[in-house]
Amino acid sequence: MKPFTRRDVLKTGILAPVAVVAAQGAGPIGNAMAASGEASGPLPLSPGVPMQTPMTGTERERLLLDFGWRFHLGNADDATKDFGYGTAGAGNFQKTGSFMPAGTIAFDDSDWRSVNLPHDWAIELPFTNDPSLQNKGFYPLGRNYPANSVGWYRRVFEIPAEDAGKRVTVEFDGAYRETMVVFNGFYLGRHSGGYDPFSFDLTDFIIPGQRNVLLVRVDATESDGWFYEGAGIYRHVWLVKTNPVHVKRWGTFVRSKVGQGDATLSIQTEVSNRGKDQEVRVISTILDPAGKPVGKDATASAKIPLGGENIFQQQVVLSGPKLWSLEERNLYKLVTDLQVAGQVVDRYETPFGIRSAEFNTTSGFQLNGKPVKWKGTCNHQDHAAVGAALPDAVQYYRIAKLQEMGCNSLRTSHNPPTPELLDACDQLGMLVFDETRMMSSNPEGLQQFENLVRRDRNHPSVFMWSMGNEEGQANGKTGERILTAMKSVANKHDGSRPVSIAPTGAIGTGGLEVGDVAGYNYMDPQALAFHKAKPEKPVIGTETVSAVGTRGIYVTDEKKGYVASYDPYTTTGRASAEGWWKFCNSQPWLSGGFVWTGFDYRGEPSPNGWGNISSQYGVIDMCGFPKDSFFYYQAWWTGKPVLHLFPHWNWPGLEGKEIAVWVYSNLDKVELFVNGKSLGSKEVPKDSHVAWNVKYAPGSIEAKGYKGNKVVMTEKRETTGTPAKLVMRANRENVDANGEDVAMFAVEVQDAQGRIVPITDNEVTFTVTGAGKLLGCGNGDPTDHEPDQGKSRKAFSGLCMAVVQADKAAGEITVEASSPGLTAAKVTIPAKAVALRPQVAVWQREIPKGSGITGLWRPVKTKGEGGFVEMFIGGDTVFTLQQNGGSLSGTVEGLGGGWFGGEDVPTPITEGKVDGDKVSFKAGSNAYSGEIKGGELNLKRTMKLPWDLPKPPAEDPNRPAVGPAPDGSDPSIGSFNIPEYIPVVLRRVEGA
Ligand code: GAL
Repeated sequence: MKPFTRRDVLKTGILAPVAVVAAQGAGPIGNAMAASGEASGPLPLSPGVPMQTPMTGTERERLLLDFGWRFHLGNADDATKDFGYGTAGAGNFQKTGSFMPAGTIAFDDSDWRSVNLPHDWAIELPFTNDPSLQNKGFYPLGRNYPANSVGWYRRVFEIPAEDAGKRVTVEFDGAYRETMVVFNGFYLGRHSGGYDPFSFDLTDFIIPGQRNVLLVRVDATESDGWFYEGAGIYRHVWLVKTNPVHVKRWGTFVRSKVGQGDATLSIQTEVSNRGKDQEVRVISTILDPAGKPVGKDATASAKIPLGGENIFQQQVVLSGPKLWSLEERNLYKLVTDLQVAGQVVDRYETPFGIRSAEFNTTSGFQLNGKPVKWKGTCNHQDHAAVGAALPDAVQYYRIAKLQEMGCNSLRTSHNPPTPELLDACDQLGMLVFDETRMMSSNPEGLQQFENLVRRDRNHPSVFMWSMGNEEGQANGKTGERILTAMKSVANKHDGSRPVSIAPTGAIGTGGLEVGDVAGYNYMDPQALAFHKAKPEKPVIGTETVSAVGTRGIYVTDEKKGYVASYDPYTTTGRASAEGWWKFCNSQPWLSGGFVWTGFDYRGEPSPNGWGNISSQYGVIDMCGFPKDSFFYYQAWWTGKPVLHLFPHWNWPGLEGKEIAVWVYSNLDKVELFVNGKSLGSKEVPKDSHVAWNVKYAPGSIEAKGYKGNKVVMTEKRETTGTPAKLVMRANRENVDANGEDVAMFAVEVQDAQGRIVPITDNEVTFTVTGAGKLLGCGNGDPTDHEPDQGKSRKAFSGLCMAVVQADKAAGEITVEASSPGLTAAKVTIPAKAVALRPQVAVWQREIPKGSGITGLWRPVKTKGEGGFVEMFIGGDTVFTLQQNGGSLSGTVEGLGGGWFGGEDVPTPITEGKVDGDKVSFKAGSNAYSGEIKGGELNLKRTMKLPWDLPKPPAEDPNRPAVGPAPDGSDPSIGSFNIPEYIPVVLRRVEGA
């Protein structure tokens, strides 16, 4: 089967203005796609990730450091399983540059597995029925699971010789949760907080022209939130190189003021000089959305001394600016050039948008002067198959999915998002309420908030800062002090956006008054009362509708952990989509709100505990399959015609019993037919639905949707036959062969007539061949304990999905879905050749080829080593040997560095000889000699220490029995027991 293409869609004519489609048996999802003018089937096409233009020119490089890492679990309790970390023998803080053996290049990481980032090891852990793990989705992490809670990452990479003199930093977009970074054996520091970006300056520790090594320990023992959060380096890592004179990280800020026919841009540029004193000027060029220069300004030169910083301010007026809006995502670019002595030494690019935004107390939020109600969802950040480690394409997929239901805004609950999520919102058109994690004025809390504001302040999609969620402290005096401090951070680094907070149990009172906009969580009636009492304060529903439902399930079954998908009507604002939206939409002063949640997420398995492992709050399940309420929102949040009929019509055993049949629609009226007989039509009340109670008999139900007196849409549910075949569709026509791009392959289990079988759970196995690999699979079932990263998954209510990632080499990706007894499905999509984004090359130690003992060798580890000698010469070594007849060349790695103060570079072998079984060579101050025996090299290592050991003075025969040691002795030293040689047995290794 090939995927549905745009052309196919055109051929079928379903892009007609008002689609008249009988989506016979295509099921809820298929029908929605037809109604929205998209391909029928579970997956409409989604956008890919736009190509990013690399920052060019000058010395700045921003290289992706995602590929080619090695990973091993450590242990939070047992140092022997944690690479000796924390033991005195490992070194740690004793001497700079020799933090621990795992931080050296020669360290034997052959039993570490290869991973690419983003990576989340939490989803690899087995679900564990421990009630204390409930909120985290029963993944065994934390103090009680030390063996699962620490992960180590290593990455060796080359730094070219020409980088000497540049500033080199490593930037982490986020890692969960406590991170320690060691580079070339030097401890660089730690970072705490699972969502906060951080970076370390590597410059002083790099070895240009050589391999360098990063060692990262990530400890996920502690937790930030009450939901699944992942574990590991689950966001991108970057290597950034600049001139000593450079724009600081997040050092540009474009603030725009929209006038009559023009826009005034206030540009701030923070420049840092880590080299000698320099005269620096800033040239700012504005590129319009088409990439055409439309504005420019150059500052006068300013002297920035060594170690100094300067903030440059500029103004540029643009006439006829193209505003950013939800419909037209016009993105400008600021190109910042730093000039020193007539040379551009740094170029920094900042995408931004021009728009005006205002929270109006009578007509709600205004974007570019027009009211825009926030039709929002809150979302956590995990997704089926990948946990918290979302490839960028999955961010775009999720945003597009939310937009399909008419959602125009997103709250990044309850933490700073991955930067690419905001890129997707900028590019696809979604308003963002951007939230920090730690509501505190302690240094960590303020720093996290500052990082959020500075990082995200140029994104046109970001309209408001959230200082926290449901923090009881926020309501009182302490909260007032904390929030005041936080607000001043937002104002200092931005000042163009309001701040708010998602509160609990109060609205806009006490400490909450600090918020520029009063948020409220769930309490619609109280929000109305607040508005009446304080009409001068803008209000938004920071969190609304904690409704639960299991996709495709219509009977609540506590034992199984399923909740019926009907939306019981309530007006508290908490549990009912219809109850909330009717209220929200009828109050013009209210700027809108954020439904809890757009997507299901792991953890918070409400309302049931174990067996549920994920939440059921989503309007969309974990894979991206819509639940029924999706169509309620789609009907009232989009302008497109919607007709959605549920439940399915397979109810064996319920013959003659009443079944509630609901229709979500925004058409004028809907007529229901049961087995061909009309039950009459009903007008569709605004922001509501229509329903009938129907006695069940196998056959069909059919809804006809009218515009005036004309039927414009129909939808049918039929009692299906048994499962006969699998049908699969991809959400992308092609992907980029860049090792990052992702396509979703959705599978339907259908009967012989091509109707989705809604109550089947056939096990589907995915086989991926060609230019891609299976990342994992999912089915949206909140009770399924199968691992996400397995190769097979049961269909849930007839659907499941594989998530497939392209390789870096172009070709075809073929995904086959099979299930015993069913006709299999196969889809092939091309992975197109693309330029890879600038990245750090994957490093692999070369294995020399040749005869004799040519190859890689490592010492066999013996137990009980250690002590004085080991302390000086210990650490892993690797021997790269090249035999040419009787001569031997190559290198020994791991001899330098550490206590001897050298750099950890390979030491060349000199005077190497092979004579029959006899081998001898030198490397630096070491001499090796011995023999080849049974495939091993049995060597004696002698070494010349870089200093002379004091010789004990000769014994004085006349020394009194009680008295001083002989002259010339040094009792502080004790006696050195330096052996004559150290035995070393080398064994051949394959790599690493
Ligand atoms: C809210 C909270 C969310 C989530 C939700 C579940 O009060 O802010 O994080 O826990 O309840 O209903």
